Amino acid sequence: MDDAIRPGETSIALPAAYDASIYFIGRIRTPWHERGQCPRQGDRDAGPECRIEIDPRWQAALAGIARYKELQILYWMNFARRDLVLQMPRSRAEPSGTFALRSPARPNPIASSLVALLGVETNVLIVRGLDCLDNTPLVDVKPNYAAPFGSVDSADHT
Ligand SMILES: C[S@@+](CC[C@H](N)C(=O)[O-])C[C@H]1O[C@@H](n2cnc3c(N)ncnc32)[C@H](O)[C@@H]1O
Repeated sequence: MDDAIRPGETSIALPAAYDASIYFIGRIRTPWHERGQCPRQGDRDAGPECRIEIDPRWQAALAGIARYKELQILYWMNFARRDLVLQMPRSRAEPSGTFALRSPARPNPIASSLVALLGVETNVLIVRGLDCLDNTPLVDVKPNYAAPFGSVDSADHT
């Protein structure tokens, strides 16, 4: 996959060590196999159905999730660069700071999407509204925190 730095972009030397570790809790199955095929942002009304496959180890953690119509999904953009501080989105004439963008290229390449929950099958969530490559690692699943319009219950904030 082409990850070359573009004119106007700036990279830095990454820190020598990580500060934390995470567990991937599953994988996201989507129809897209190249980054250029993915939408820039998911569409939870008209996007394709995707499957979030939770590692069976964490299956009990899904108890109660079917009550919600919207979930926040956090995932790890495993093919993204982590060293860019200024980026050149194709749609802009000037570089923008990484923290002023939703680009997958960031120090910790965590993406988030609000998705529509269409169904739950044992350890699999059927959703609409994702924008990532097939097999992207899953970091977390939470009810929509915004006490959401469209949800059956408000999210439990505890
Ligand atoms: C602009 S990001 C938005 C991600 C998320 N919705 C957000 O706002 O945090 C979505 C893009 O990331 C790229 N992408 C998708 N899956 C990726 C992966 N596993 N590793 C690196 N880049 C990925 C694709 O180009 C896709 O269009």
